[in-house]
Amino acid sequence: MRKFILSTVAAALVAAVSPVLAEEGPEPAHQSWSWVGIFGQYDKPQLRRGLQVYHDICSNCHSLKLVAYRNLAYLGLSEDEIKDMAAEKQVQDGPNDQGDMYQRPARPSDYFVPPFPNEPAARVANNGALPPDLSLITKARAGGADYIYAILTGFADAPADVTMADGMNYNTAFPGHQIAMPPPISDDQVTYADGTKATKEQIAKDAVAFLNWAAEPELDLRHNLGLKVLGFLFVLTVMFYALKRKIWADVH
Ligand code: HEC
Repeated sequence: MRKFILSTVAAALVAAVSPVLAEEGPEPAHQSWSWVGIFGQYDKPQLRRGLQVYHDICSNCHSLKLVAYRNLAYLGLSEDEIKDMAAEKQVQDGPNDQGDMYQRPARPSDYFVPPFPNEPAARVANNGALPPDLSLITKARAGGADYIYAILTGFADAPADVTMADGMNYNTAFPGHQIAMPPPISDDQVTYADGTKATKEQIAKDAVAFLNWAAEPELDLRHNLGLKVLGFLFVLTVMFYALKRKIWADVH
């Protein structure tokens, strides 16, 4: 029995530590992000550009299952724009009065419709690899936003001494440097509605900003609340100081 408990504990420890021991890529370079720091906030025009990048490019392979279309109101999209974007995709609903399931256009209350119906279908279309859901990806990877940016901009020709497996692409940031994702972005691949020049780096930055918002939509609120609390504490300190002076005024 004791042996069993010990080996279970040991197995649990190994499981807890092994993600840390897993092969890691190089430390990604730090980028400047609008939301970092206590005054940091999302740049909404940038989030809208990132949505466009996800919509036009990444959503062909990656799902975003934890974001509902109606959440896009936060980015400044109108109700009609949200309805239109949702309605581009079909979802299964039902059963109807006849007991049949049926397809209908997605609604703002639906979550982003995934590109593939199931995991095997996603793998077959991607050389056996599974494009991960991107809802929490900036939190799920060490290096966060910097790492995702490094992946998106890290595609390069493989060095001569590296043998690439079939259908794999060389990427400087990916652990092991062989990734099944083909380089998803290039200069001018999207045309931004707000006129921003769509360099490869800009597209990557905007996509990462959008994905960071998807993973941490409450960040602006948190930072705002933090500032209010700090302001409140400051006022309280001034008041207590005044009070202290008053109370001790007659004591010499
Ligand atoms: C043609 C399909 C395709 C497109 C388009 C695509 N990806 Fe991928 N992506 C993949 C596949 C497949 C993987 C899994 C790679 C692997 O495990 O080797 C992947 C993996 C990733 C990863 C995870 C890397 C890691 O550390 O595991 C991120 C992040 C990512 N993609 C972001 C994006 C973003 C952002 C876009 C849009 C700009 C995008 N992808 C467009 C197929 C695609």
